[in-house]
Amino acid sequence: MIGGGAEFVANVFAGTTQREPAVLSIDPGIVAERGSTEMNGSGAIEMLAREMTAELHAIRARVIQEATAAGSTQRLPLKAKGISFGFVSSKPTGELQLHEIEGIDRDLVVRPWLQKGTVTSLRTFTVTAMNHHHGMQPVERFGMHLTGTRDFDHDGVTDELTEGDITALVVWQASLNVPGRVIPREPQQRSAVSHGEQLFNQVGCSSCHVPRLVLQRPVYSEPGPYNLEGTLNRREVTVPFEFDLTKDGPLPRLERQSDGSAIVRAFTDLKRHKICDREKQHFCNENLVQGFARTDQFITRRLWGVGNTDPYGHRADLTTIREAILNHGGEARGSRIGFEELSTSEQESVVAFLKSLQIVPEGSAQTVQEAVEVTLPYQPRERDRAALGVETKPIGRIQ
Ligand code: HEC
Repeated sequence: MIGGGAEFVANVFAGTTQREPAVLSIDPGIVAERGSTEMNGSGAIEMLAREMTAELHAIRARVIQEATAAGSTQRLPLKAKGISFGFVSSKPTGELQLHEIEGIDRDLVVRPWLQKGTVTSLRTFTVTAMNHHHGMQPVERFGMHLTGTRDFDHDGVTDELTEGDITALVVWQASLNVPGRVIPREPQQRSAVSHGEQLFNQVGCSSCHVPRLVLQRPVYSEPGPYNLEGTLNRREVTVPFEFDLTKDGPLPRLERQSDGSAIVRAFTDLKRHKICDREKQHFCNENLVQGFARTDQFITRRLWGVGNTDPYGHRADLTTIREAILNHGGEARGSRIGFEELSTSEQESVVAFLKSLQIVPEGSAQTVQEAVEVTLPYQPRERDRAALGVETKPIGRIQ
């Protein structure tokens, strides 16, 4: 599936090029191994991050204003769309104090990309990846204005990718269909899915994997306002390219609510967490620093396509959803223990629920599909049938 996730064999070893000379080693001590994640619904994710950043920046401005007006240090909770990023304080001089911020960089920009949550925009990622993986250098990062040459890599080709080329690549990613749900036909499996959804909330998975966030203005706009130098920024263009995430692009799309907003059911808080500890070390394997994030922190993985985007974890080295859950430690320790304490059938219900969250075929009119039986060359076990019913037909919208 174009834009979907990739298998383990397509893993990337980031950081090899940061060494001089570049290394070929895949030792986790010196490189960061990454599975390739699916990009479906990424326009919505980026716009959520931008709205959250705007909220956090407004709080930052307010705390400075209140502290200077009051003549004393002021402290405010940093909350965006209900997600807490700690506290921000300001001295009466307007000097900011950021020692209590959580899961975000000091510039209070919510960075939704890279599994670390350290890349600002699809555009920043794309510009980097075109150079890094494809050997093509975008003008906005390698052009005359920054490097003094139109052929920075001396390959005889000038201005390899224009700003327009990058915009086209980004807008395609941003417009990819949003994931949906595939509900099994068997009544027993069906009730397991809905029971599993309740249990997912009950044991606290939803404290990080937030089931729904409201996007106030579901219009994607390119380029974004928080891009750093080397990536085209909103202020450098007269008119941004805009499209409505609820009206344009392949189906299924975000659904517009009567007040003009849209609900994004991505199961993430777009915040970085440490989900490893001494007992559960799987997610603590790294030494290489990426961006300004601690090596043991990762952004809460969006789960809206988890049912058909195995394998799991930032290294794509976990084969099953259950393994991914059982390796949660650190900040997720309580909810993992909650999961372990459920009965076997309750645990299976949580997994059945997660399996129902899938990237549904592009062009589907509805986000909820019913699994349709397919003819198989062998008799599948009862409990595998729903997962194997790969053909689907639309049955409605997510409530
Ligand atoms: C403290 C925040 C937090 C809590 C609570 C939490 N998770 Fe996670 N979860 C994460 C982070 C962060 C990742 C990404 C790990 C990585 O990148 O390797 C993740 C990854 C996952 C994955 C792997 C998804 C993929 O595509 O690779 C699954 C499945 C998952 N979580 C399910 C759960 C379930 C079920 C619960 C409740 C028992 C839960 N999580 C509780 C933060 C959390």
